[in-house]
Amino acid sequence: MSQGSFFKVRINTMVPGKPTTFDLHIKINGQNILYLRAGDRLQPEKIKSLDSKDTGSFFLVKEEDRKAYKQYVHEQMISDDLNVREKALVLRESSMTLVEELFEQPDVHSALDHSKPLIKDFVEFMRAEPEAMGHLISLSGHDFYTYNHSLDVGIYSLGLGEALSYGKKELEELGIAALFHDVGKRHVSLDILCKKGPLNDAEWAQMQKHPQFGLAILNENPTVTDAVKAACFEHHESWAGNGYPQQLSGQEIHPFARIVAITDTYDAMTTQRSYNVPLKPVDAVTTMRDKLAGRYDPEILRAMYSVLFKLKAA
Ligand SMILES: [Fe+2]
Ligand SMILES: [Fe+2]
Repeated sequence: MSQGSFFKVRINTMVPGKPTTFDLHIKINGQNILYLRAGDRLQPEKIKSLDSKDTGSFFLVKEEDRKAYKQYVHEQMISDDLNVREKALVLRESSMTLVEELFEQPDVHSALDHSKPLIKDFVEFMRAEPEAMGHLISLSGHDFYTYNHSLDVGIYSLGLGEALSYGKKELEELGIAALFHDVGKRHVSLDILCKKGPLNDAEWAQMQKHPQFGLAILNENPTVTDAVKAACFEHHESWAGNGYPQQLSGQEIHPFARIVAITDTYDAMTTQRSYNVPLKPVDAVTTMRDKLAGRYDPEILRAMYSVLFKLKAA
């Protein structure tokens, strides 16, 4: 059995006591070992003990069971037994492993295909539950896995899109755009991506190419729209015209890219990294408004306040 025919699911997306509809495996000494057969129940104590062992905080599920897992998550999303916050957690956690695939899988295009129904789930949840976005946002930024960044930028961007009265289709497109904004980092070396100190000139030059790398990846996929490509290629442009790679300014920058520019910086400022102290949500937006004045679309930055205000109410 090759590792490639499995995908990861986070342990905390599994409901204790509920029979599974697919086999669960765990990795021990590099081998995928069958842990629980479809139809069996996961004991709560076992979940706890697994979480504390170094098997990782995930199970492995066969690729052919992906649909069954999706259905399992969907059932939790429509269940009366879970409150909005619990649903937000399940949705975010079940998405996290997919976002890892965006960066780890050799085939980025299958990850692109898988992300569409995922974003639909987020938009549906947001529209069905007025408090959904507040809970999703409050769950963001509490850990510092690299991949969380893309998902959290996706979540914040959907919040902004909603605040800007985007319709369902536009929101879905925006969600995909935000999720893939840094896909070009697949071609930046890990040493640079994970470097703890400041980058030297050569490293910085490579890092700054990620919008071009991303555009090249997205151009290979015929289903990717121009707006999604623009968000990827233009998210480091600056409203004042001194960004990269094209030095576009103001309205020349695609609205999706202007949104992602804000949510991208916001996430970086509010997330714990080994070398910085995270800012509080309102402090981050205020810093962007005052100290980084001119970089962001002022109207969208104002909308970010209203997104965060909702977060407080939730
Ligand atoms: Fe970026
Ligand atoms: Fe980013």
